[in-house]
Formats: sequence, C-alpha cells, structure tokens
Amino acid sequence: MKTKLLICCVTILLLSVSCHRKTTIPAIIPEPTEMVVGTGTYSLKSGKTIGIKTSELTPAAEYLQQILSTDYALNFTLQEGTGDITLSIDTTGLSNEGYRLEVTSKGIAITAHDYKGTIAALQSLRQLLPVPGDENADLSLSEITIQDAPRFEWRGIMLDVSRHFYDKEEIKRLLDLMAFYKLNKFHWHLTDDQGWRVEIKQYPELTGKGAWRHFNSHDKTCMKLAETENNPDYNLPKDKLRIVEGDTLYGGYYTQEDIREIVAYAAQRGIDIIPEIDMPGHFLAAIEGYPYLTCFKERGWGATFSTPICPGKDATLDFCRNVYNEIFQLFPYQYVHLGADEVEKTNWKKCPACQKRMKQLGLKTEEELQAWFVKEMEKHFNANGRQLIGWDEILEGGISPTATIAWWRGWIPDVAEKGAKQGNQVIQCPNSVFYFDYGQDSKTLPSLYHYNPVPENLTEEQQSLLKGVQANIWCEWIPSEARMQYMLTPRLLALSEVGWCTTDKKNWGRFRNKMIAHLPRLDAMNINYRIPDIEGFYTKNVFTDQAIIEIPEIAPGISIAYTTDGSFPSANSPRYTGPITVTESTDFIFRTIRPNGTMGDMVKTSYIKSKPLPAQKATPTENGVTASWYHFLGTRCAEIESAELKGSFKMDRIGIPKEVHGVIGLSINGYLEVPKTGIYTFALLSDDGSMLYIDGEEIINNDGEHSPKEIIGQVALEQGLHTIKVLYFDRNGGSLQLQMIDESGKHIPIDTKLLKR
Ligand code: ACM
Ligand code: ZN
Repeated sequence: MKTKLLICCVTILLLSVSCHRKTTIPAIIPEPTEMVVGTGTYSLKSGKTIGIKTSELTPAAEYLQQILSTDYALNFTLQEGTGDITLSIDTTGLSNEGYRLEVTSKGIAITAHDYKGTIAALQSLRQLLPVPGDENADLSLSEITIQDAPRFEWRGIMLDVSRHFYDKEEIKRLLDLMAFYKLNKFHWHLTDDQGWRVEIKQYPELTGKGAWRHFNSHDKTCMKLAETENNPDYNLPKDKLRIVEGDTLYGGYYTQEDIREIVAYAAQRGIDIIPEIDMPGHFLAAIEGYPYLTCFKERGWGATFSTPICPGKDATLDFCRNVYNEIFQLFPYQYVHLGADEVEKTNWKKCPACQKRMKQLGLKTEEELQAWFVKEMEKHFNANGRQLIGWDEILEGGISPTATIAWWRGWIPDVAEKGAKQGNQVIQCPNSVFYFDYGQDSKTLPSLYHYNPVPENLTEEQQSLLKGVQANIWCEWIPSEARMQYMLTPRLLALSEVGWCTTDKKNWGRFRNKMIAHLPRLDAMNINYRIPDIEGFYTKNVFTDQAIIEIPEIAPGISIAYTTDGSFPSANSPRYTGPITVTESTDFIFRTIRPNGTMGDMVKTSYIKSKPLPAQKATPTENGVTASWYHFLGTRCAEIESAELKGSFKMDRIGIPKEVHGVIGLSINGYLEVPKTGIYTFALLSDDGSMLYIDGEEIINNDGEHSPKEIIGQVALEQGLHTIKVLYFDRNGGSLQLQMIDESGKHIPIDTKLLKR
C-alpha cells in the first residue's frame, strides 16, 4: 500500500513538472535555501544577450553561452554590463559561494558572492529549464527568486585513476556532472601501486614504466565479471590497451599539457582540483622505474600492503620533493594531498638507513618515522604556499596542527572528533558511507542521505573545523567510464544535498521524488546511472498455492525484462507489463532497462511452492539462543565451525555478543517457536557474510566478504518448534542483525520468548 502511494506521489509530481511546470516548485538538486515562485514568465530566445558586470565572470558567461547553445540551440551573445541575463558579483547579504537568482518577466539577474557562487546559480538556472533534447520544449521560465548558499565549503569527489585509467575527455565529463550538482572539489588520486598517471619531466620512467602494466588480478576479475554479470561495462576499454613486442599492456597517463587543460576546464566550472601523489606507501608504480627509493631495492608486497619507499635516505626525500615541485606548477590550488595511508613498515624496522634516521631524531617507533616523513613533506608544501591533506593515518605518530585530515577509516569512529579537538581541519569520507566503489542496494541512498556530518559533542569552534564531505571512488573493479558513472549516480545526487543543505532543508521524500525526476536529465547527459531497485518481492519467496508478483513502477521510461530459464534477460526477453501469477516453483531473473536500451542490474528471485516444514519434537528449557565464537579468518560461513572455538554465550536475541570482537566467526543456535502455521519472512543484515538455516534448510544466503547488506527470505512453517541457526563472520567488528518482517512489510525484532534453547 505504502509503495503504491509513493509511486502515485512521484507520478503526480512528474506530471506536474512536465505539464504545469510554471506553477510547481522546481526539482533543484541540491535543494536551495530559499525559493519564491512568482506568476509571470520569461522566455529564452536566440538573439538575446548575456551581460557581464564583473570581468572576472567572463569564463562563467562563456560556459553559460555554450550550454544554452548545445542543450537548447539558443544563440546568446556576450556583452559588458547589463544583458537579458546579467551576471554580477556583490558580496552584500551573501556568503561564500552564495548567490541570488532572479527570474522576472524582464530578464534574469544572477548576483553572486564570488565566481563559484555564479557557477552554482547557473546550475540552478539549468535545472529550471526543461530536460535538454526536446526541440519543441517550452523555454519560458516561471518568475522565481532563489537565495542560496552551501552548508560546507568542501563538497568533493575523489577518483582513483591508477587502478584503472580515465582519459582527458572522461575526466571532463565527470567534472561536468560534478558542476551540475554543485560539487566543487575534485580530488585526483593520480598514483598508486598499479599505475602512475601524471607526466613528471624530471623522472620520465614514472610514466615510461609506471603507466603501463600487464593485466593484473583486478583486470582479470573485471573481464570475468563482464561475462558472469553479462555486463560489457566491466570490459577494459580497447583504447587503454597497447601492444608492445607482442605483449598487451594496459594503461595511460596525462601529459602536463593534458593536466593544464583539465585544470582550466575545472576552474571554469568552479571546481578546484586536489592532486594526490600517494606516499610513502602505495608507491610501487614509481619504484618500478626507480628501485633505489626503497630500503633494499625491493619491489612487491609485505604482510599487508606494498613495500614503501625508504624515509631513511635523503635521496628519497629529494625525489619526493622534486615530484611535488612539478605538481605545484601544474595545480594552482591551496590544498595538495600527500596520501600517507596504509604503509607497510616492516622493512623500516630492518633498514640501517631508517634506523639511523630514527636514532638521530630520537624517534621511538616506525609510526613516528612515518609522521616525521609527513611533516618534512608538509614543510615543503608550506614553503611552496600549499597546505597538506593526508588520509587519517597522519594522526598516528603525532600530527602537525596545520595538516588537514581526510577521515576514511569508518571503523575508527572518533577520527573527526579527535582531529577537530586537536585543532586540525577534517574532511569526512568514512568508507561505510562515502566509498562509492562499494555495492549499492535499496538502503544505500537513504543511509548516505541521512548522514550527519557534524557530531553534536563538538564546540562551535571545533565544528567549524569540519570542512565538509567527499565521496571516494576506488577503481580496482571499475574499468570503464560507464561503470564509474554507474557507481557514482544517483549517489552523487544525495552527496550533493549532504554537502550543500542544512539539516532543516533536507527531506528524504522530497529528495527521492526529485531524484526520479532527474533521471531524464541524466539520460540526456548520457550518464549510465544505476536504476533504483526493483521492489515487490524478496530474494526467496515461498507460497503454498499460488503467488502473484506485482512490481511497482520504478520511474517513467524504465522497463523490466525477465527470464525463467536461467538465461540473462536481454532486450528480446519478455517485459514485465503487469502482475505475474506463479503456480509452480520458478526461478526468475529480472533486469531493468534504461530508456536508451542499456541494461541495468540483474535481480534473481526464487518462488518456491512448499508445504510448511513440520514442527520439531524437543523440550528446550530456557528462552534465548547460544552463540559460539570461533577464531575464523576465512571468507565462507560453511568453514566457521572448523575453526578454533573461543567461547560460548547465552543470548536473548540473534546478533554479535558484547564480549565478541576483532576476528569473528559465530555459530548461533537454538529453536524458534512459531505461534501458528504460515509463511514467515526473515531479514538478515550483515557485514561481512552470514547464513540463515531453519530446520537445516538454507533460508538466506548472505555469504562472502561484503559491506553491510540485507537479504530477505521466506519459509513456510508449521505451528511449534523449529531449529534456527545463523552463521556469521567478520575481521573487524562488523554488524549482524536478524529480524522478521510482518504482513505490512515492517521489520520487527524477534521476540525473545520465541527463541528457545
Ligand atoms: C584508503 O582507502 N586507503 C584511503
Ligand atoms: Zn629504509
């Protein structure tokens, strides 16, 4: 019922957007601070002018001129002073990046605090216009006044171009998308173990050797996924391959000329670029050409991470400073990112040069040696007028008060607080919420949307050190632009509101409707967005007589193909057009299709005709279940009970016992007493893997290593007792929750009185 109501609301909103655009509140993302809609209209027509009142805004005016021409075939000329659309700067009543956009029957006035504010205003103006591509679209705008400014100064996207490479045009399209949603920081992860992507003239082997590789395990996994997921977006693009002496190599890099072009392109769109040359770890692509940088000329992997460079040698520090000297020339921005994450320090313990350095400086641990390296590099940054950002490992071993922390390790929950309390600035990107390379399901968007970037226990001054939010997209398993866009959107739209809107301006229901209304805009931009989830069934569904599959509409223009023979749904497969009646056990694969015919996700579901499982004869004596904790380092639940047993705990619910932490394998056992014969629905949420068995039958398979993921399954049960077993593992704390779902679709905890042992 609820789902249908939501769909109705979406449909009404969309109808009103398309037919009565003039009288509705426009679907602008991120939601502006204030919007007042008037009654008159203003029509955009070729032959009109864009007036520039402050010469610094000329690139913004050219950007607008180009958009009006490409998207709407409107020819506007530029002129100094007032025009039909006028751009000006005035700081009165406006804060950083703030703007006022006034559409009246006489014209359009954009007054901004600064250049970035002007770009933000242009994006709002674009979103007031119809979706590009319709030649007959009505280009008249309702009168409106928007007054707007961002909540946070830092609204970023980090892209890893090392693991897989994106060329100049692909980066420009990402910058276009970021600008459209008012994101203003592009953090460019240019180097890592798997590839060096920026030309450094002093060290030509960085790209000569470091930009090219034989296919690695990530490449091979991608190629395999292209087959098993029937998804061409996992293929390595042909233009990133080259044949050298009969060998196929993967790679690519940006020349310094390319970088300058991209920096200018970003600047025109109000986006700063933060380059990252990750060091002292994650540096194998450079070590490949310059092995003297390491402690023992070694190249490869230690116990956990790749072997780093040797901070004991002056030559290493000179090399790092020289590389950054060229980076400073290319990127004219205040912030530069040193990386400094995930450093394998075992060789430093054995290296005479490292140990000598530590002794000379009175450093007691290798963590302090790493902190010394970071501080040395920070001095060099500062001497060149730059400020250093590092991943949150820079907090270990002592941090300088002027460094900015990028908090990524979500499992260390107090980094933002700790950093701010020490007086350091913090950018928030904890992996559990902001790693856009992680898988997506129906919960991903709401949990990102509701993220609160400001812990309440900080003073106002400490809160002001929280610069904002950033999404990071690591590209080990993202080999193409299409796959990158799929992982980015529509999450990027939610990120946009998290970074821009104050809490009182955030509204999940409104955002979701706007997001659906924006899908045609993403289509017009050729963005390979992830289609919102298909709803209306569980992973495993049980029926005794017959079942009816009813799938609510996802969004206008999105269709659904399906198969029942195990084959991949294709454009030729039957389409879902209305309720499907199922009378025999059937495995379905559903697949969404975008308006342009490209395929979205496949969703597997089984419908099982089943008699209720008979009740067990047993006489348990207590309420609750028993949890056994194993020292389990594997990745499959089936192996947990072969590991070493560490202890057993009585529990009144199914979850992780409070005594259990670190390396976890759990086997939770007991009985479930059901009050009447019927079909029961269970939701098993875990990070990492879990399994649910009832009376020895597998009900839910949520196995394998993964971020938090819920799977829902059903079983028919006779009144009485049934054995229940949950297996679970994780290496770092994780999460585990088993709930039931009632007839209205609501998750409910399992009453302790129903659990027996
Ligand atoms: C990171 O994910 N290693 C910053
Ligand atoms: Zn060393």
